Amino acid sequence: MSPCAWTDLFPQADYRFNFQFKRGLLDDFYRPSQLDSSGLIDRSRLLSENRSECLTYLPDAAESIAEAHQLFVDLKLVPSPLVADPEQSLLTLGRALEADIILLRIKEDRPTIIGGVVCFPTGWRLPDKLGRHLLDIHDVVPQLNAELGTRMHRFLEGLKPGVSWERANWGLSASAQLNLNPILGYPRLTQDTRIEEIYMRVESQSLTVLPIGESILFGIRIHLTPLTRLWSDPDLRQRIQRSLQTMPPRVADYKGLNPILAMLTSG
Ligand code: HEM
Repeated sequence: MSPCAWTDLFPQADYRFNFQFKRGLLDDFYRPSQLDSSGLIDRSRLLSENRSECLTYLPDAAESIAEAHQLFVDLKLVPSPLVADPEQSLLTLGRALEADIILLRIKEDRPTIIGGVVCFPTGWRLPDKLGRHLLDIHDVVPQLNAELGTRMHRFLEGLKPGVSWERANWGLSASAQLNLNPILGYPRLTQDTRIEEIYMRVESQSLTVLPIGESILFGIRIHLTPLTRLWSDPDLRQRIQRSLQTMPPRVADYKGLNPILAMLTSG
């Protein structure tokens, strides 16, 4: 991430959920990073060995998946569809794109997950979320629905095709593993974790709406940076520390940060 993005993510302010969206281009968001061939190899392996954890869809999602596939063909980011098979389309997208993607549709006035391909989740499983609506999915995040639920819903209803609306979430992790699916039992932050073992895990997200079926396309890219690298910049370190110090305890608990808060905020 660029230094400018860091100061956007950590403004000189107390912690709050980030609801700043920037307007971008779908080509730019989904374009290959040229750094990430190992990520693509991991994605292909996961999609071969553990497909049911990463790829799923509802029976009525076929047209939306085909439309998403066509969008990425038009962007010249994936090969042309050979067959009209939703699983093959998601597989093609999952193997070719560095981003994870999720499709939602507004059903009974509620944005609902209808399918996707997610190889690098941050502590959750796509199959657990299929068919559920956004308020329900976000219910595990303390205070989020109360603070932003209505605004998120309005925002999603107002999306226009062709624009990538982008925001980010951040967290800290105890490994540089991209795939933090809870079934893996990945390393957690503990009181014994050393700062050299901690990574800043940023999820860049893109939201757009597909013009024909009006499904919402949600893209997620993971960026990992050793925390020590950010700590070497005194201004950025102070911003991150302020965020950690002012984060509501229930949010810190949800993000798994409690064991390391004292270590990171002293000095
Ligand atoms: C519209 C703007 C959105 C905002 C402001 C937002 C915000 C957040 C925040 C703050 C978290 C907690 C992450 C953390 O701080 O560590 C979260 C988690 C999550 N969000 Fe969103 N989100 C948005 C849209 C979406 C959409 C469209 C989806 C589509 C599926 C989604 C799926 C999730 C999932 C699966 C989690 C993890 C929940 C878990 O731990 O089980 N979010 N979101």
